[in-house]
Amino acid sequence: GLATAFALAACTGGPNLLTATSAPVTAAERARRRTGRTTRVQLTAGKTNIDLAARTASTWAYNGQVPGPTIRATAGDAIRAHVTNHLPDDTTVHWHGIALRNDMDGVPPITQHAIAPGSSFDYEFTADAPGTYWYHPHVGPQLDRGLQGPLIVEDPHEPLGYDHDWVLVLDDWLDGVTATPDQVLAELKKGMSMGGMGGMGGGMGGGAPSRNGKLLTGTTSSLLGGDSGDVYYPYYLINGRPAEDPATFTAKPGQRVRLRIINAGGDTAFRFSVGGHRLTVTHTDGYPVNPVTGDSILLGMGERYDAIITVADGAFPIVADAVGKAARAFAVLRSNPGSPAPTVNGYTASDTSPVTAAVLSAPPAAALRRRGIDRRIDIALTGGMMKYDWGINGKAFDMNNPLDGAYAVREGERVQVTIANQTMMWHPFHIHGHTFQLDGGPRKDTAIVLPHQSLTVLFDADNPGLWMTHCHNIYHAESGMMAVLGYE
Ligand code: C2O
Ligand code: CU
Repeated sequence: GLATAFALAACTGGPNLLTATSAPVTAAERARRRTGRTTRVQLTAGKTNIDLAARTASTWAYNGQVPGPTIRATAGDAIRAHVTNHLPDDTTVHWHGIALRNDMDGVPPITQHAIAPGSSFDYEFTADAPGTYWYHPHVGPQLDRGLQGPLIVEDPHEPLGYDHDWVLVLDDWLDGVTATPDQVLAELKKGMSMGGMGGMGGGMGGGAPSRNGKLLTGTTSSLLGGDSGDVYYPYYLINGRPAEDPATFTAKPGQRVRLRIINAGGDTAFRFSVGGHRLTVTHTDGYPVNPVTGDSILLGMGERYDAIITVADGAFPIVADAVGKAARAFAVLRSNPGSPAPTVNGYTASDTSPVTAAVLSAPPAAALRRRGIDRRIDIALTGGMMKYDWGINGKAFDMNNPLDGAYAVREGERVQVTIANQTMMWHPFHIHGHTFQLDGGPRKDTAIVLPHQSLTVLFDADNPGLWMTHCHNIYHAESGMMAVLGYE
């Protein structure tokens, strides 16, 4: 069983289950296609002040910027990241979506000891699958403070021709303006009053309760409890910029642009669109899809979509509507300096169905080959807003006892995972270290499971280790909607 996995990989004793150096370099890691080159990056997690147009927010970030620096490597490069912790708290870096060696996955105490304040850690791994990925801590809700950044793995034989490659990081912003994510999580865990439920049910169900309208300022408890009970995110950002002073992208009319869109929000699904443009979706979560063209794309937290646009003549809004929250993040696309950007939606009112994973399929190069299923895993997503008791199979994940409720797999197996959402909310479900294929659909590492629906995914157990699987609403995850998937 999994105890064997621990015996193999673990150093014993206490809550620190592993040491980073004790995990063997697996055959899977040795088999990764390599260029022999190394992409080096320095990331310093620290306190910083972020300019949000009308105000300054004090928060935590990598290298003093939100999002953190874009890391670009070529498929097969080793990525060596020297991470220094200047935060007043433990931290790590998780490389979301990368199938890497387990001891570099950044999950304390399962794959490494947390990086203590004042110390540093060197991550080194091979990134052999091209695509759009991102990085963030795997400690509490730290990512929602702004500790996140893009990781782009370029294909040396890129088949898509384009003139520009733009990364767009969508984010919901709370910390430093009203309350820290840790305060939010603490309030949520106290349980919501009935008064707090008023804003629920909009859009796809939303994450934390929210209600449309004016921005509130005040104490955490006046935002989260008491009479209104609402959670307000005062800012929605594209590449760290609020609508008041938006990020601006410039190109020439007729140029083809690859957009790499990352939902780095902690609690928000975004409907993404570019006014006056059709989006041809080419990839999701790094992997190619059979192209689908639409007016908008829906991204749950942790999901990435790549899309190609052909730039029209003028100035256009880039809009990320916060689903169910009637707020939006906004940026500008310009190919003509004279025109002001309109602020309407990018998609037309008649476009009622954004592109989602449900309408995508995998081309042969990205599809799993056909074979029999060796193991079936059933995961029930449970809990609710009222008690904020998000869990898996009715149980909240316990970081001090992470193997309790773990799922075992064995190297070489074809695994089918059925994720049954027994809750009234949707959850973007993520598996570390692997990409799965939706039943008849695309390859992904994070996929939305709708309320009271099931999602069936397949993956090949080809990357031994202990891997987290969890909801990527960071508040749901941290309140317990997580489990370990471990090789026995
Ligand atoms: Cu971005 Cu455990 O995930
Ligand atoms: Cu969730």
